[in-house]
Amino acid sequence: MIVGIPKETFPGERRVALTPAVLPQLSKAGIEVLLEAGAGAAAGYPDALYTEKGARIAGTREEVFKTAEIIVQVRGYGANPDAGKSDLPLLRQGQTMVAMLEPLAEPELSKELSERGVTVFAMEMIPRITRAQSMDVLSSMATIAGYKAVLLAADALPKMFPMMMTAAGTISPARVFIIGAGVAGLQAIASAKRMGAVVHAYDVRPAVKEQVQSLGGKFVEIELDTSKTEDGGGYAKAMDEEAIRKQRELMTRVIAESDIVITTAAVPGKKAPVLVTREMVEGMKPGSVIVDLASEKGGNCELTESGQTVEHNGITIIGQANLPATIPFHGSQMYGKNVTTFLLHLVKEGQLIVDLEDEITSGTLVAKDGAVVHPMVRKALGLESDPTPERSNA
Ligand code: NAI
Repeated sequence: MIVGIPKETFPGERRVALTPAVLPQLSKAGIEVLLEAGAGAAAGYPDALYTEKGARIAGTREEVFKTAEIIVQVRGYGANPDAGKSDLPLLRQGQTMVAMLEPLAEPELSKELSERGVTVFAMEMIPRITRAQSMDVLSSMATIAGYKAVLLAADALPKMFPMMMTAAGTISPARVFIIGAGVAGLQAIASAKRMGAVVHAYDVRPAVKEQVQSLGGKFVEIELDTSKTEDGGGYAKAMDEEAIRKQRELMTRVIAESDIVITTAAVPGKKAPVLVTREMVEGMKPGSVIVDLASEKGGNCELTESGQTVEHNGITIIGQANLPATIPFHGSQMYGKNVTTFLLHLVKEGQLIVDLEDEITSGTLVAKDGAVVHPMVRKALGLESDPTPERSNA
């Protein structure tokens, strides 16, 4: 079984899908790796590190696509719509692709992939269940984004984070407010706390209160009917009008007192909720900073511009996208570990097994045998019936 790693082509993408460290584990499972020359260089992994661990280096991208049975990427076609298109003709019937593909945001592109006869697995669709934790790329990448959000905010803030008592006077600590205490939010709390800030956090799910506190954050309480805010799977549900009004009142107060607001609120499958209004931004002190991690999903702040940093009344609003690509060494290490665990889940004795009764496999399988098969992606395409393929060994 040959796994191919093409160089990433999305603008600014510096990660690589597998790092040299995981190659021995793959090799034990009968998986060889073929790397496009230089694919790991931008992440800090030169070709020599791969060859030391038994990988072969391909001189051209075409060779990778021609030789490999499984193509692994960070950003496959759906998550790389422009540059990724030129890979389409290189893909062939029966080949398998494992990558982030944005199948729900860009279902048409998944369909184009399916039409090449490729078996497509989208890493973003890994279910958030305990058994799949080590494959969960959204969590690992959100961890990086939460950390980096604090660094970006600290850099833009005209203040320091920690309290300091110096001969030149006392510096009061920065106040950081994190909205949404999921994976990215918890990491942002921990990072801001380590840098010496006073950290407050809020989430609609009361279950996270203890986690916030265990990281040294103070949980902002809003009395809501919490039975309506959390679903059975540990994710947030969309909120009703009354809850939104109450939330806004309290939020306005806390935001006005904060130097930095980092927003990470997300509800799976929905546009990001707008939680920080123009009025709230205008209530902040000049020099304050907002980092909106939900910028790519429409933003949690009304004034966010996706991918941009904007200023409004002296407040900096950062909507930078693809933060994990700015920490490519560890971004690749974590992504590569997730992909490796997933590959080892799929490949048994050198054979790819597509077991549709397995929740992880069926949850990530987007296309097979020329058709889009994932029910959510089919729905996004407006297709009704489910062409579930026969359980098979591909
Ligand atoms: P998550 O699902 O673990 O956490 C989201 C949290 O928001 C949950 O705890 C949820 O309860 C909370 N939430 C939902 N609605 C809320 C509301 N109305 N008020 C307060 N809290 C609310 O998601 P994760 O993995 O932490 O990701 C967070 C965001 O960061 C997502 O939008 C994701 O797309 C984004 N992200 C951005 C990156 C970037 O480079 N800009 C990279 C990685 C993730």
